[in-house]
Amino acid sequence: MSIPQSFIQELLARVDVVEVVARHVQLKKSGANYMGLCPFHGEKSPSFSVSPSKQFFHCFGCGKSGNAIGFLMEHAGMGFVEAVQDLAQGCGLAVPDERASPAERAQAAAQRRQQATLTDVLEQAARAWQQRLRESPRAIEYFKGRDVSGQIALRFGLGYAPEGWHGLASVFAEYDSPLLEQAGLVIVGEEDGRRYDRFRDRIMFPIRNVRGECIAFGGRVLGDDRPKYLNSPETPIFHKGQELYGLHEARTDIRALGYALVTEGYMDVVALAQRGFANAVATLGTACTAEHVHKLFRFTDAVVFSFDGDAAGRRAARKALAAALPHAGDTRSVRFLFLPPEHDPDSFIREHGQEAFAQAVQEAMPLSRFLVEAASEDCDLATPEGRAHMLSNARELWDALPQGALRRQMLGELATLGHLPVAELAALWAQQLPASSAGHPGPGAGRPEGPGRRAWQRRGAAPPPQPPLAPQSARRIDHAARLLLSHMQFLEDLTHEELALLREQPAPHGALIVWLESRLHEHGPQPWAVLREALAGHDCQRLAEHLMTGSHAQTEGDEAELRWELRDLLGRMLAEAIQHEQNALIARAAHDPEALERYRQLQERRLALQRTQRPAA
Ligand code: UTP
Ligand code: MN
Repeated sequence: MSIPQSFIQELLARVDVVEVVARHVQLKKSGANYMGLCPFHGEKSPSFSVSPSKQFFHCFGCGKSGNAIGFLMEHAGMGFVEAVQDLAQGCGLAVPDERASPAERAQAAAQRRQQATLTDVLEQAARAWQQRLRESPRAIEYFKGRDVSGQIALRFGLGYAPEGWHGLASVFAEYDSPLLEQAGLVIVGEEDGRRYDRFRDRIMFPIRNVRGECIAFGGRVLGDDRPKYLNSPETPIFHKGQELYGLHEARTDIRALGYALVTEGYMDVVALAQRGFANAVATLGTACTAEHVHKLFRFTDAVVFSFDGDAAGRRAARKALAAALPHAGDTRSVRFLFLPPEHDPDSFIREHGQEAFAQAVQEAMPLSRFLVEAASEDCDLATPEGRAHMLSNARELWDALPQGALRRQMLGELATLGHLPVAELAALWAQQLPASSAGHPGPGAGRPEGPGRRAWQRRGAAPPPQPPLAPQSARRIDHAARLLLSHMQFLEDLTHEELALLREQPAPHGALIVWLESRLHEHGPQPWAVLREALAGHDCQRLAEHLMTGSHAQTEGDEAELRWELRDLLGRMLAEAIQHEQNALIARAAHDPEALERYRQLQERRLALQRTQRPAA
């Protein structure tokens, strides 16, 4: 997808970087700016500053800075397009695709209008059912019986859909409107075409998206009828496998408590919120997907999955493990809580109390241990056969882990458990193709981004080794710096990856870029004449003067064309840096599976970069 620059500008004008950052970092007003603890490096006193006037963040400790898009990319691990889409969704803008035809764009616009209308319809139903709850002693009695307070019912917008086939006819002026059917509120009989309410005589749980808009419902019977829960069907605005019940309501508490609790049921979320665990969410009667996990990690670095203490709970935990593995980076924590048989979080906390549940959370099993347990299931580790079987189970799980210290340690643990020296296990797995490259949809198949990109962007990853600059590369970095000196604002559209590459250039180029970034943060874009004054006496002054006054100093021209030029230059520089890292890996890749995988990821990334480049001039 190709997003027009004008849209990025419009988007950045609409979003507030303070609000975006505040979703992840606790900020305090300090003068004209906001300060907080830097999310990019560990620190005890705040040196992370966000400027509402410049719409930029900057850490005086580690030097990280950028706009709202850059923040999401760095902090939430999103790709550029994903970050743009996320922000656009938050302010109701549709991301245009430059390559889309006018007809496609018109269709996309129509679709968005329809989506807005559907949420309106659902909100209206939710409000009506909230009112009906107040009028129904039976429904109120039901909630009382389950210890749900009025305050909590309000927090979740709980309601009651009364008995009768056409209850919604009194809510909507036009019961025949196809919108009610599209929203999943009304069912049209296949044979007679007669319309009737989907939800009748049920306790209603509105399902909201992260922004708080109602997108679907879950409805529970008050007694023991079947099905116990009825959910909205998939609609243009509701995709079960992507949504988490309660995420909107829990998002601030997830931040405050420092972790998210994932449960299996609506009532678990409600009961936990009532007893001090307002950081709980639930999957919607489906297995936990990588998409769910990815979504959660936008809000926190720690997730605790809670499972019912039965066989079904155990199976669900295995699925959650598969979904979580690709996201289990070294700075994240994923743990699994297994409740005693016959209990779910709701019944457990009601029977044993808040403290017992807190204790259980504290003792939840780390992902590393659950991985080993899952791999060893049904394997007799006292025999070579059993250990071999365990290792073969473990291979696929281990493969799904991202590069990093955890992955390396797990290799060691699995080797010990399998009675093999680490080097031998590594050699064995290097010989066998990883499951993922053999075409099996391994547990990592749901990875939201190309593995190459993630590995490259991973926080704390060692920068690629710096080769001596070839003459051509020297010209490239010179020209990139020149373009940025004459059009400082271009810095704002660079990706995290591109910025890192520039910052890591040997001095004085790298230092000049860092200086420009902080200048942009402090003063916004300034013309060269002003920068020139400001550079007086600075280490980078000579370089900048040289670049801007030499015979190649041509940086005039159409701004869009120049942006293109910069993008192209950076793409080539990135590809070159990747090639160097690959060269360094090639010898090791023959016997080290991690090196081999890294090599493959880099290859993929390099090919992707080359595809977006213009033919060499
Ligand atoms: P459970 O059967 O464990 O129910 O289903 P529960 O959450 O403990 O419900 P209560 O406590 O009896 O009210 C867990 C989840 O699976 C989905 C729902 O999302 C439910 O919360 N489910 C369950 C359905 O979608 N349909 C069903 O018929 C049952
Ligand atoms: Mn329950």
